Amino acid sequence: MLDQPPLTNLQTRDIEAVLHPYTPLHKLKTNGPLVIERGEGVFVYDTQGRDYIEGMSGLWCAGLGFGDEEMVEAATRQLRTLPYYHLFGAKGMEPAIELAEKLKEIAPVPISKVFFTSSGSEANDTQVKLAWYMNNAMGRPNKKKIISRQKAYHGVTIMAASLTGLPYNHIGWDLPVDRVVHTDCPHFYRFGEAGETEVEFVARLVKSLRDLIEREGPGTIAAMIAEPIMGAGGVIVPPATYFAEIQKVLDEHDIMMISDEVINGFGRTGNWWGAQTMGMTPKTISAAKQLTAAYAPLGAVLVPQDVYDAYVSHSEKIGTFGHGFTYGGHPLGCALGVKAIEIYQRRDILGHVRNMTPTFEARLKKIADHPLVGEVRSAGLVGGVEMVADKATKRSFDPKKGVGAQIAKFCENRRVILRAIGDTIAFCPPMVITEAELNELFDRFELALADAEAWVSREGLR
Ligand SMILES: Cc1ncc(COP(=O)(O)O)c(C=O)c1O
Repeated sequence: MLDQPPLTNLQTRDIEAVLHPYTPLHKLKTNGPLVIERGEGVFVYDTQGRDYIEGMSGLWCAGLGFGDEEMVEAATRQLRTLPYYHLFGAKGMEPAIELAEKLKEIAPVPISKVFFTSSGSEANDTQVKLAWYMNNAMGRPNKKKIISRQKAYHGVTIMAASLTGLPYNHIGWDLPVDRVVHTDCPHFYRFGEAGETEVEFVARLVKSLRDLIEREGPGTIAAMIAEPIMGAGGVIVPPATYFAEIQKVLDEHDIMMISDEVINGFGRTGNWWGAQTMGMTPKTISAAKQLTAAYAPLGAVLVPQDVYDAYVSHSEKIGTFGHGFTYGGHPLGCALGVKAIEIYQRRDILGHVRNMTPTFEARLKKIADHPLVGEVRSAGLVGGVEMVADKATKRSFDPKKGVGAQIAKFCENRRVILRAIGDTIAFCPPMVITEAELNELFDRFELALADAEAWVSREGLR
């Protein structure tokens, strides 16, 4: 392991006072956090003034990078005009109206209404509640289960964590709750069988989904939720025909498709929505993260007219639509959502993502030859590099060795922030990254990879 420099004052205070999400708490006590002080463009700076390329846009969200003056001005303007208001009890405000209109305009399918939340987890929780509410309204009280997928990531609230298909979100947390069933992960490299083609793999997944639906009873299933490209499960790009094929099965049983666009949305894959990149036709959509380029927290659920009509009829019966968050549709978030979308359009950020994609792909492809790398995968400017102990057999490292986490640490030492998902290293740079910065990011990563190779050999980890 690496030598541990003495802890700074801020690190010590952090250890004493902050409970960190997604952090090995036992290690933090001695190692302390990396304390970030400021950001500019694609760089963030720690308290010692060291620069890091933020290769993950924070948590897949800071798509415009850091310190965008137009965003800062939009925020200041909104805070001066109306720092807080809400949408409960038939109240309205212009930022929410304008953002809902914008989202309807750019949505990949016809959308009638937008419900605002404060986060992606709340958006997905809301999706489930709305599916239940809708089916109660439609006189289908048994149609309530939600299908999700192994390795999916949909957030951490009780229902969103249940939809998530990752062991560390379930073990020790008494999850998943019932009404959630998981189907296969569409990762051909890991789950394709020997001699199987991608087309055969998709056919097997389709059959497995069909079997699951029959086993559970089609009349008991309300919806399936899916990220077009899985993010926190390891950046998994499904085979090209996957969504078209599974949606046929869902349509047969009147099971609606929910697209979780929390990472994919707003240009990340080179289109406005991952659904467009992956040929998916969702009924409803969850959005967050790049919705505001992470300059303020905000999430959204987009629903079409017929679904909305069901809410109206049920709310009439019950007396109100009994759902909403204090900060859902916060004016600061909505104003920044409007500004972010305007910037994405005016500066042609989608075009820029498409222009940068060949360099991103080429640099990933170069890494694919490295002896530690089993597979590289990407779409637009999101990618993953999966490390393996044995390239020929795809054998993974012993998870207890924490190879991915150690490589992320090597990256940090080489001044690039990337995220380890198991032994996959995720890349999701700000969409505004220039070609030179993208090359610098990969140059730094290659140095970290060389450090990793030396460490793996030294420790005999293969
Ligand atoms: C696809 C997806 N859905 C939902 C969430 C949860 O969003 P939040 O952390 O804002 O609750 C995330 C977070 O990473 C995500 O990647």
